[in-house]
Amino acid sequence: MSANLNGKVLVFDSGMGGLTVAREVQALAPFIAVDYAADSGFFPYGEKSDAALRQRLPEVAKALCQVARPDVFVIACNTASTLALPEVRAALDIPVIGTVPAIKPAAQLTRTGTIGLLATPGTVRRAYTAELIEDFASGVRVILHGSIALVRMAEQVASGHPVPLESFRIAQAPLYQAEGGDEIDTVVLACTHFPLIRGELAATLPQAVNFVDSGEAIARQTVRVLSEQKTSEKTGGNAWVTSPINAQARLTEVCRRFGFADVNQVAV
Ligand code: DGL
Repeated sequence: MSANLNGKVLVFDSGMGGLTVAREVQALAPFIAVDYAADSGFFPYGEKSDAALRQRLPEVAKALCQVARPDVFVIACNTASTLALPEVRAALDIPVIGTVPAIKPAAQLTRTGTIGLLATPGTVRRAYTAELIEDFASGVRVILHGSIALVRMAEQVASGHPVPLESFRIAQAPLYQAEGGDEIDTVVLACTHFPLIRGELAATLPQAVNFVDSGEAIARQTVRVLSEQKTSEKTGGNAWVTSPINAQARLTEVCRRFGFADVNQVAV
């Protein structure tokens, strides 16, 4: 990787989850500028209808890119990417990188031949997710579970508000209670919020499993795509939210803690 690489990446999610991806990008390429954007006005994506998200995503992506002026736009959200990546690409004139549930590496890692997929209800019901399973996990049993409760708990934990461990046990239990669930040895964290609660999930598992997420792969892809662009030196560290700042004290505080000091509202 070239140390001369510059330019700016805008990492986007519905809320705090994409910060786990921004962190991976910053760790891999500390010399590129990274801004962060959260569509907090439309959070959570995982329980929105497909039609509503298809309409919202190109609009919000366009508005955010107009203010942040990135060279590459990263949708650090499985729920959005598995539905509306083509629509967002069509709306922007810069490269767009999506987030794909890490089904392929999980299928390669499993020894029991049974993997779990923990995501939002939206990602769980997507045709795109079913295609990924068919293409990369044929011969492997994949058990899916969608939970908005876990997304909300991740935001609470990230903002320093304690959540009883028992709530994590209850929220992830259906994955392991499903038929064949006791065979799961590898779990795809197919929501970018879930690495924020990796410890809590691990502490309340009914059996030993490996967690796999897409953060590092997205970071590598981002650096690769950025290095193919004509870019110039830029400064990052700004965050953008789509709801009033004073209604977003927790999100603002967490963005700052992840290094995005200047948090501003973009009305969409
Ligand atoms: N972080 C998002 C994902 O990866 C979803 C959170 C939400 O439901 O808004 O799917």
